[in-house]
Amino acid sequence: MDLDTELRGRKVFVTGSDGFIGSHVVDALIARGADVTALCVYNSFGSRGWLDESKTFAAAERDGQVRTVLGDVRDAEHMRTAIAGHDIVLHLAALIAIPYSYVAPRSYVETNVIGTLNVLEAARAAGVSRMVHTSTSEVYGTPDSVPIREDHALKGQSPYSASKIAADKMAESYARSFDLPVVTLRPFNTFGPRQSARAVIPTVLSQMLAGVQNIRLGALSPQRDFTFATDTAEGFLRAAVAQVGNGEVIQLGTGRTVSIGELVDLCKAVTGSNATIETDEARIRPANSEVEILLSDPQRAKEKLGWEPAVGLEEGLKQTADWLEGRVDAETALRYHT
Ligand SMILES: NC(=O)c1ccc[n+]([C@@H]2O[C@H](COP(=O)([O-])OP(=O)(O)OC[C@H]3O[C@@H](n4cnc5c(N)ncnc54)[C@H](O)[C@@H]3O)[C@@H](O)[C@H]2O)c1
Repeated sequence: MDLDTELRGRKVFVTGSDGFIGSHVVDALIARGADVTALCVYNSFGSRGWLDESKTFAAAERDGQVRTVLGDVRDAEHMRTAIAGHDIVLHLAALIAIPYSYVAPRSYVETNVIGTLNVLEAARAAGVSRMVHTSTSEVYGTPDSVPIREDHALKGQSPYSASKIAADKMAESYARSFDLPVVTLRPFNTFGPRQSARAVIPTVLSQMLAGVQNIRLGALSPQRDFTFATDTAEGFLRAAVAQVGNGEVIQLGTGRTVSIGELVDLCKAVTGSNATIETDEARIRPANSEVEILLSDPQRAKEKLGWEPAVGLEEGLKQTADWLEGRVDAETALRYHT
């Protein structure tokens, strides 16, 4: 698949552009010559999230290759107007923090389910050649068996995962009912520069880089399959143009798992920290809500998208630590970001 040829000049609309993965997707699209409209959530600060820090984005904006639209996926009419005239829609906007979904579940339904419905409708009205909907490995809950394949049962283990399951099923129904060329990508844990401090890797690295001696963490036993952000972004670009059936679901994961405890040791090696670990009860998920292991079978992504991760965990941790260096202070690093 030649992404330069496939994407050059294509009109691509990206929701969640202001976020961690979305901003990497926008940078990657710019590098391939796509014509990008970046949806950033409306706010009174005029902030466009991580795009404000992207030199790639700033240069492309000066050249007219990209533009931002402020908006909210919960606004059906606005999504319809904003998406009209685009050929490809990459839908990443979502509320994603699991802890916050315990206290504000309704906002997850409104953003992740109704918001996805609005984007599906807008993509259908625009007659797009492809919409990529973003799922998550959290939809599997604690799996019955590993490695997890795309046909594994879905389990609503948190309000976040339940809202994503509902959104995935809306996408599936639009493929079946209206032949919408929608593909669902299901990333496993993604990490890298620009990830918010609520996720485990930035939490651990920030505390170590700030010289904290007692690292506060939740459970150490859960195992996760971590993909570097630029690899995840490459998966979105491939899914945008791949010859795959309507409604196809494809996981993005590496096929390697580490426990949070092992991850902490790798972070110590990268930062040179000799910190000890302290359990923070506030970070422990309710017993039946914790997901013990998420490990992907990467076969379908390889077959359908020709996608394989290029950046290993150790190298990715180093790049993330380099990015975090100088951005962290002990007080902020110790705060629990939900
Ligand atoms: N980070 C991961 O490890 C991971 C793993 C699997 C799946 N995902 C999925 O990837 C996508 C991107 O996640 P991320 O990690 O970049 O998170 P993020 O929070 O950095 O990005 C999500 C973006 O959505 C935007 N958003 C939220 N509500 C909105 C609304 N109502 N209207 C418009 N925009 C809104 C936010 O401004 C934010 O920038 C999400 O769909 C998430 O479920 C993430």
